[in-house]
Amino acid sequence: MKVKPIAKIIGTGSYVPSKRLTNADLERMLDTSDEWIYSHTGIQERRIAGDDISTSDMAVEAIKRALDMSGCLTEEIDLIIAGTSTPDYRMPSTACVIQEKLSFPNAAAFDVVSACAGFVNSLAVARSFIESEVYKKIIVVGCEKLSSVTDYNDRSSCVLFGDGAGAVVVTTDRSGRGVLSTFSKSDGTQRELLWIPVGGVRHPYNSHFTNDSSDKLKMKGPDVYRFAVREMYNASLRAIEKAGLNTSDISLVIPHQANIRIIQGLARRLNVGMEKVVVNIDKYGNTSSASIPIALDEVNRAGRINAGDKILMVAFGSGLIWGATVVEW
Ligand code: ACO
Repeated sequence: MKVKPIAKIIGTGSYVPSKRLTNADLERMLDTSDEWIYSHTGIQERRIAGDDISTSDMAVEAIKRALDMSGCLTEEIDLIIAGTSTPDYRMPSTACVIQEKLSFPNAAAFDVVSACAGFVNSLAVARSFIESEVYKKIIVVGCEKLSSVTDYNDRSSCVLFGDGAGAVVVTTDRSGRGVLSTFSKSDGTQRELLWIPVGGVRHPYNSHFTNDSSDKLKMKGPDVYRFAVREMYNASLRAIEKAGLNTSDISLVIPHQANIRIIQGLARRLNVGMEKVVVNIDKYGNTSSASIPIALDEVNRAGRINAGDKILMVAFGSGLIWGATVVEW
């Protein structure tokens, strides 16, 4: 009998720019304090890409590291999926730019626009292509230059965001170990809780842009917070259930790094000790679709993951959108 193909992660890589924006820097720019930011978010600093670094540049660095770990050659890759909401261009996709920069001659390439759920949703797409045997070796990269859409006059949002990229190489495997489940959901009626009003065709720069920062990210923080705690929990339960597991089977939780209090609230609801929860928000802030694959790469390289471990990754973001996946390593 033919064994069902499963999508297995065989390489991880990440990249963050070297420039740090600390809470002390923000204190000099705005009416805020290190004490407020750290106590309300858990963030101490974030990384900021300079004008000379684009989203695809960061993605390329993360992908190089993931490819290196996987042992795959660029010629072997047949699909590149870039999860990003801060693309290099409105057209073409950032995945196509990445394809050109690293030279993947045999690959298809496209973006998945899912804000902070960009990595989880891109991995779900990769899994479907692997399980349906359309593609065999896929790169999934979450990459964001959030500093380009951050309003540094808005203290309620600008303290949160940073730049970076994280990538995985996914391949067809028949061992039964790999992506066990995925779950995605969204609610477009809530899209104005977290959005960038100007810059698309609905409100283009030319007719509506008044230089009032409406081309930057706007967020109703407390509403998003309540939604995040509730739906990250629900998404986690659905993904764990779809994997045929119980919460107690989960070895490691890698949540989207949005706010330490959201992460702690999720851990409490799941009844999972914080020692099983990966947190690096203090160093990078919220890097949107990059946050989960950066954290995954860090724990992988630190030797915190063992074969057979069941890893829950869970995210939420603009859409509103939320999703989770369970991977057996
Ligand atoms: N420094 C000092 N004071 C501040 C700051 C700041 N940086 N920001 C807000 N405050 C003040 C407010 O003005 C308010 O003051 P007031 O009581 O005098 O009116 C007070 O602090 C409380 O404000 P809240 O907005 O209620 O603060 P809250 O405790 O909810 O924290 C936060 C705000 C951190 C934004 C929180 O709501 C949150 O994390 N929300 C979720 C955000 C999120 O995860 N977004 C995901 C984006 S993902 C994507 O798709 C890109």
